[in-house]
Amino acid sequence: MFELTDRVALVTGAGQSVGAGIATVLARAGAKVIVNDLHEERAQKVAAEITGEGLSAVASVFDVTDMDSVVGAIRAAEAELGGAVDILVNNAGIAQGNWSGPFRDLEPEQWRLPIDLNIYGSLNTTKAVIDGMCERGWGRVIQISSGSARTGQNIGVSMYATGKSGIEGFMRHLAAEVGQFGVTANILALGHQENLAEFMPPERIQQLLRTIPIGRLGDPFEVGAACAYLASYEAAGLTGQTVDFNGGSQTR
Ligand SMILES: NC(=O)c1ccc[n+]([C@@H]2O[C@H](COP(=O)([O-])OP(=O)(O)OC[C@H]3O[C@@H](n4cnc5c(N)ncnc54)[C@H](O)[C@@H]3O)[C@@H](O)[C@H]2O)c1
Repeated sequence: MFELTDRVALVTGAGQSVGAGIATVLARAGAKVIVNDLHEERAQKVAAEITGEGLSAVASVFDVTDMDSVVGAIRAAEAELGGAVDILVNNAGIAQGNWSGPFRDLEPEQWRLPIDLNIYGSLNTTKAVIDGMCERGWGRVIQISSGSARTGQNIGVSMYATGKSGIEGFMRHLAAEVGQFGVTANILALGHQENLAEFMPPERIQQLLRTIPIGRLGDPFEVGAACAYLASYEAAGLTGQTVDFNGGSQTR
């Protein structure tokens, strides 16, 4: 079950945290994994950890918002692994830089980065691999999103949520267009993840935990396992859906 042997998977923003967990689990399920990140040392470290387990991975350094780099780097990584991308996980989504805060406090130049990353970043990678998937009659596109795409929250992430909700809409249309070719597209809307504890004060984490029925933050390897299912042969009938993966939180 959920066997990915010989599938080639691209995971964007996989140099740490959630993306690293996804890349590792897909590799353990048998996929050859392209570990993308903006930062070379992060991508190399995760790829080395995966190959250190005797599994298959290559690091691929590119900025998902730069279409020319995306296409060139994906073709090079595919050549290195000896296969075209069958599974795309659009995980890169947390922009670096100054983009958060209440909308009223943001300047227009702060809007662009989280929207570009979450919309153009995923459009670019999808464009680079979707024709091949359709021609081969098999493919899986998984968009990592957030509950903030569908729920208003007073935590200063309105531009990030604008990007996430935009790309969620695109994925539903993509699913409708490519289903006939054996390609699925789904959205995994995550709740609060473990890495938040690295920069949020403990009192704030305790507040968050009270809203999560399982009483803990999300684990990157569990997100990876959900991706392995969505990427599998067995998930062929599941497409165009948003799956909340948030420990049962009703507030998203
Ligand atoms: N952490 C959470 O609590 C949480 C909650 C909901 C959703 N998510 C989603 O999960 C995904 C992963 O989040 P995370 O917390 O692991 O993020 P993170 O910031 O820990 O890691 C993201 C990685 O993406 C890379 N990256 C950033 N911009 C990039 C670009 N333009 N091109 C290529 N790589 C780029 C970064 O270098 C970084 O290594 C994101 O889509 C995020 O929106 C996270």
